Amino acid sequence: MSRWRGLWRTKSVDVLIHESEVRGHKLARVLGPLDVTMVGIGAVIGAGIFAMVGEAAVGASSGYPAGPALIISFILTAIACGFTALCYAELAAMVPISGSAYTYSYATMGELVAWIIGWDLILEYAIGNVAVAISWAGYFNDLVKTAFGWDIPIWLRIDYRTFVQKGLDLAAVPHLLGVPVIFNVPAMCIVLALTVLLVIGIKESTAFNNVMVGLKLVVLAIFVGVGIHYFHPEYWKPFAPGGWKGIQVGAATVFFAYIGFDAVSTVAEETKDPKRDMPIGIIGSLAVCTVVYILVTVALTGMIPVMELKSKIAEPLVAGLEYNHAPAWIIGIIALGSVIAHTAVLLVFQMGQPRIFFAMSRDGLLPGWFAKVHPRFKTPYVTTICTGVIVGLLSGVCNIDEMANLCNIGTLFAFILVCIGVIILRRKDPHRPRPFRLPGGPIMPLLGIAFCLYLMLGLGWMNWVRFGGWLVLGLFIYFVFGSKKSVLRQSS
Ligand code: ALA
Repeated sequence: MSRWRGLWRTKSVDVLIHESEVRGHKLARVLGPLDVTMVGIGAVIGAGIFAMVGEAAVGASSGYPAGPALIISFILTAIACGFTALCYAELAAMVPISGSAYTYSYATMGELVAWIIGWDLILEYAIGNVAVAISWAGYFNDLVKTAFGWDIPIWLRIDYRTFVQKGLDLAAVPHLLGVPVIFNVPAMCIVLALTVLLVIGIKESTAFNNVMVGLKLVVLAIFVGVGIHYFHPEYWKPFAPGGWKGIQVGAATVFFAYIGFDAVSTVAEETKDPKRDMPIGIIGSLAVCTVVYILVTVALTGMIPVMELKSKIAEPLVAGLEYNHAPAWIIGIIALGSVIAHTAVLLVFQMGQPRIFFAMSRDGLLPGWFAKVHPRFKTPYVTTICTGVIVGLLSGVCNIDEMANLCNIGTLFAFILVCIGVIILRRKDPHRPRPFRLPGGPIMPLLGIAFCLYLMLGLGWMNWVRFGGWLVLGLFIYFVFGSKKSVLRQSS
């Protein structure tokens, strides 16, 4: 086969399903519709609602505040995610295999696109986790401050650039060989601690996940209740201080809060009846999270004039409570709930990234030693440690908004490819049974593409530059290594 044609060669859906059945002997089909919905909620509710709403409402780095109209931003993003979720549901019910978007692309658009999406998913999982870890550190400090009165020195829980942006005094920071020592120690520590856990192999029981999800929902319900108590309608004037642009930029920023519903598709092989449960889990978790986000945003923007969030932009929920002099124990509960919510997201994503590397390595697109399984713990330890070290180091020195936006642009791109995949598979394989079929032909996938593109355009040009650079680097690696070692190519 010519090198050029090989780039477009697809893995047939039958081969994929056969491979998963062989592997399936090891995976117990134990999850029901409620469990998979809880997996989705567990992966979704985290830094987005607990931290990024601050930046989206205030628009500190973009200059376009959404203000209380952030509620509309959340609805807009829910619509974009809704169309994509329906596409994921059609594919996940038809090709119930754990590789998610990477696998669907291999089946529909060929190896090159599969590589691009696998490479792109690093932005969703690993870079997304950098942002979650940074946000975790902020709430962790609030927690230890409320509980024990300790305030971790700011130079030990922030990155250098944010330190400078905040106008803090560099002279007050210890120096090593003339260089100021500023890095985010708690963010690095949580990532490294979870990495150790994942290498040893924690059994992520559904019961454990369900408890974490229950706690998140209870804590957010308390926040909404308290918010209604402190509600001031006058804080909603002006409702949209940044106009429509503020709403669009806000929608693109809070997209981060929705990322994770697609993680439901990665447990397809462990689901009792994926044909029925995948659509329920994907759409159900998105619906629940949308309602929760709208309620929390109504409460937050009604309890504090949004521009006041600037003082504590990374912990906006605590900022709202402090503004109203809420009792310390309520702030403590919100901080604790937030730390738990962040930890759950970190764990799911820190587990997801090695799985994707693992799948790419098994297909020959990454070096074989990546797919090594630990002889004693039976975990993909090489990919888990690589992911942990990279995410840990980056979370020590990076800025949260930049990392979240890079994650957003990468994930939106992956969503677009999934929508395109639905259209292609309908043409290529029209007779394959589709247990869940989107109504309206290609209309919904096309709307999904349009909405995701619209949100991508709401992300500043710098994000496009970083994203472009990332894709170019990925293509370089593919042509130097992956395209030559591909198992599919060598077997044809
Ligand atoms: N949606 C996840 C979060 O908000 C990534 O933390």
